[in-house]
Amino acid sequence: MYHARVIVANNPEEAGKFAADVFEAEIAKKPACVIGLATGSTPLPLYRELIAREKAGKIDFTRVRSANLDEYKGLAPNHEQSYRKFMQDNLFDHISIRPENTIVPLGLAEDVDAMCDAYERMIEAWGGVDLQLLGIGHDGHIGFNEPDDHFPAKTHEVKLTEMTINANKRFFNSADEVPRAAITMGIGTIMAAKKIVMMVTGADKKEILKKTFWGKVDPQVPASILQFHPDVTLVCDKDAYPF
Ligand code: PGA
Repeated sequence: MYHARVIVANNPEEAGKFAADVFEAEIAKKPACVIGLATGSTPLPLYRELIAREKAGKIDFTRVRSANLDEYKGLAPNHEQSYRKFMQDNLFDHISIRPENTIVPLGLAEDVDAMCDAYERMIEAWGGVDLQLLGIGHDGHIGFNEPDDHFPAKTHEVKLTEMTINANKRFFNSADEVPRAAITMGIGTIMAAKKIVMMVTGADKKEILKKTFWGKVDPQVPASILQFHPDVTLVCDKDAYPF
């Protein structure tokens, strides 16, 4: 069972353009909308496209607010591998979004629970996420919500699985340097978004993509809960599409 609208692109660049169409439409409809953003390799073609479209006068980010999905615990915002730094380098520094309108969980928060509560409250104060971007991990994680025996509701601290540490070690000097914990929006936070775009590219994601939308809804495949979200657009490339 699945309810997603599925768009199959020829390649990751084209997937980025299809996903950018959804963002362009949302920002045109609601110039001060709240977008939820993601890190990783998959969204890079989308971010390149959004930068190009603002330069071409097709999108205006000056009133847009953004909330990121997650951050490594223990990394400072300016750490080379922090997700805050990733967002600055790959998107925020190249568009007109105001710095005070971008939030990423704080990896160095002393009181993690209080920071997570404040993060949820900030999103609520903004009126909730209008359009949430998601990637997917090989284990089915969204944000850093790893396979579990339940779907965690709110922004919280998580331990990363070996699979995730291995997948992400390519960005660090060695697997030992990958933080063992992270802060992530919860599954409830993600499901509360009014609209969701999931980008999935590459043959290595085919199997988990099939389980996510065409398998059973199961917290061991955290992304599978998206089958119950009423407005999901899946943008994948031919290599990732399971059929
Ligand atoms: P990737 O990460 O885009 O780098 O594959 C996706 C994820 O782990 O959510």
